Amino acid sequence: MTDIRELLLSRIRDVPDYPEQGVMFKDITPLLADPGAFTALTDALAEIAANTGATKVVGLEARGFILGAPVAVRAGLGFVPVRKAGKLPGATLRQAYELEYGSAEIEVHAEDLDSGDRVLIVDDVLATGGTAEAAIHLIQRAGAEVSALAVLMELGFLDGRARLEPALGGAPLEALLQV
Ligand code: PRP
Repeated sequence: MTDIRELLLSRIRDVPDYPEQGVMFKDITPLLADPGAFTALTDALAEIAANTGATKVVGLEARGFILGAPVAVRAGLGFVPVRKAGKLPGATLRQAYELEYGSAEIEVHAEDLDSGDRVLIVDDVLATGGTAEAAIHLIQRAGAEVSALAVLMELGFLDGRARLEPALGGAPLEALLQV
């Protein structure tokens, strides 16, 4: 696992002052462009799906789609997108959450999740945990349960992990990298 972490870390580019002054952006596009690293990441996340008995993979827009879809294929599971509000055409469940300035809403097609589903949530970054927390609530409102939340990177200094503990209710939060 250490080798995988080193490989993944080496393919993440730090971009200073993006999208605004003082922010260090973690750019995953070099990782995506490297088939060895992208495959290693997909395999590691698919292993979490298998180990936690997942029956579906949920990806969080937008980078969670890029990471989550191949995980679903690799694990032999269906993929369900959680989208920013207004993008899904069917009957949805909608969940609002607070941002640093203002608020946002995400949605899922209600018919894509069944009671009895165990859902692996996949995203690239865990920062404040607001997005993931809202996604957990959506999944639970659909009658499904969360098998695990798996992210490529956890920004530990923002303490998203502590925020998510109550919503996760014992389901694991797996971060491949701590940055
Ligand atoms: C980023 C990231 C996570 C979320 C993490 O997505 O991909 O989904 O923020 O932040 P949080 O833990 O504080 O909620 P963003 O909203 O920038 O969307 P994008 O992937 O469409 O760029």
